[in-house]
Amino acid sequence: MSSNVDLILFGARGDLSKRKLFPALYQLERAALLDDSIRIAGVAREQLSSEQFIDDVKLRLQEALPAADWDEGAWSRFSRRLTFIKIDFAQKNNYPALKGWLVEGRTAIFYMATPPSLFGPICQHLDNAGCVDSRARIVLEKPIGHDLESSREVNATIGRYFPERNIYRIDHYLGKETVQNLLVLRFANRMINSQWDNSCIDHIQITAAETVGIEGRWSYYDKVGQLRDMVQNHLLQLLCMIAMEPPNSTNADEIRAEKVKLLRALSPVTPDNVADRVVRGQYAAGWISGKPVVGYMEEQGSESDSSNTETFVALKTYIDNWRWAGVPFYLRTGKRMAEKMTEVVITYKANPHGIFPGSNVEKANRLIFRLQPNEGVEMEMISKKHSLSNELKLEKRTLNLDFFDSSGGSRIPEAYERLFLEAIRGDQWLFVSREEIEASWRWCDTLIDSWRAKNLQVKPYSAGSWGPSKAEMLIEKDQRSWHGG
Ligand code: BG6
Repeated sequence: MSSNVDLILFGARGDLSKRKLFPALYQLERAALLDDSIRIAGVAREQLSSEQFIDDVKLRLQEALPAADWDEGAWSRFSRRLTFIKIDFAQKNNYPALKGWLVEGRTAIFYMATPPSLFGPICQHLDNAGCVDSRARIVLEKPIGHDLESSREVNATIGRYFPERNIYRIDHYLGKETVQNLLVLRFANRMINSQWDNSCIDHIQITAAETVGIEGRWSYYDKVGQLRDMVQNHLLQLLCMIAMEPPNSTNADEIRAEKVKLLRALSPVTPDNVADRVVRGQYAAGWISGKPVVGYMEEQGSESDSSNTETFVALKTYIDNWRWAGVPFYLRTGKRMAEKMTEVVITYKANPHGIFPGSNVEKANRLIFRLQPNEGVEMEMISKKHSLSNELKLEKRTLNLDFFDSSGGSRIPEAYERLFLEAIRGDQWLFVSREEIEASWRWCDTLIDSWRAKNLQVKPYSAGSWGPSKAEMLIEKDQRSWHGG
């Protein structure tokens, strides 16, 4: 457990703090994973006393957490760590109040749960006020820029105040248990690792389907779209964990160097192949869980009559290296889809020769990493059907590694709990490096430039479906199909 750490949350009154950050910190308290010495300051521009702030955190926690997770003892310990510091982020003369609270010799972790446009000004004011020493760390929420050039600017600005070893860029997918388990299953099991290449694997699918729409963020989202919102970060990080070469150790530098190599090996989507490899969609009105929902253009906050922003994207890519040459990776993600479901599916090649005639069981093995719902891993195997009939009958059976079961029925930690622990411990292995961010933007920029060059329009799909029919064609023209809808 790390000690003498001060956590300073900028944007402590915002939505992320309410829904994710305070609940995660409270859960760490409940699990006795926060050292007694850790102090937490909420920073926001409202005029509030610390007592009012603490009362409000309690209320918000009780709203966000299941009743069974409420523990008065844990709350009382947690509340004693909390302080409120009023800072209008743009006002440099507000920062000495924070400087007065910090204690020399302790490690300050500045957590930016703020719009990215404020990262630079906040860093500058922190530095001017003498709050940044060689130990101080900064945690940044996405997005880091909206293309390669702007991400370089953000990185350069932060880099003026903090060295790379003290910068923690969040991709909350890396905090998810299954994502870390990808690493363990791949590199702790010889059986899996020895079959992990183009000689055994037919193709890989990554799906991140959401049922939510754009949740009141129309004007923001319309400038961004699903490729930048989900693929540039979360899906490419998943892809790295699945496809990177074995790192020499779990050291952050080793892992991150492998991810950068992988991102650089992604086959570019060019104007020549974009129509074959990318499908963009936008949801129209439909039904989700039996309730009618409006289309993207009718969402609250919609500012124009038409938009070519994608709320769904499906794409096929390749990795141009020795291991993966010729293996297609199919990625798809969308809002307002039929189910909330995130999974990675590895489909193995069929046997070179079938000795069981007449069976209609699909003979390819599949390994499925499920991130949500019900985090876990499944291996689909072909097995003999019990029967004394003359003919051998085959059936598909599933080996199931259910994390909830294996955790003894206790809860699976939320991504932010793990990420806070690592930031406090000072280990960057689950955070994204500058080079990774820039390599993934470089690939996405080329893709976006290509769809612009070819004027690739969004295809409508009904809310509550699995995306536009063109997305089915993207994979079916290769004689394959999407797993799970
Ligand atoms: C965020 C995106 O990064 O991830 C959201 O900005 C998206 O648009 C969310 O809904 C999905 O996260 P999760 O953990 O629910 O899959």
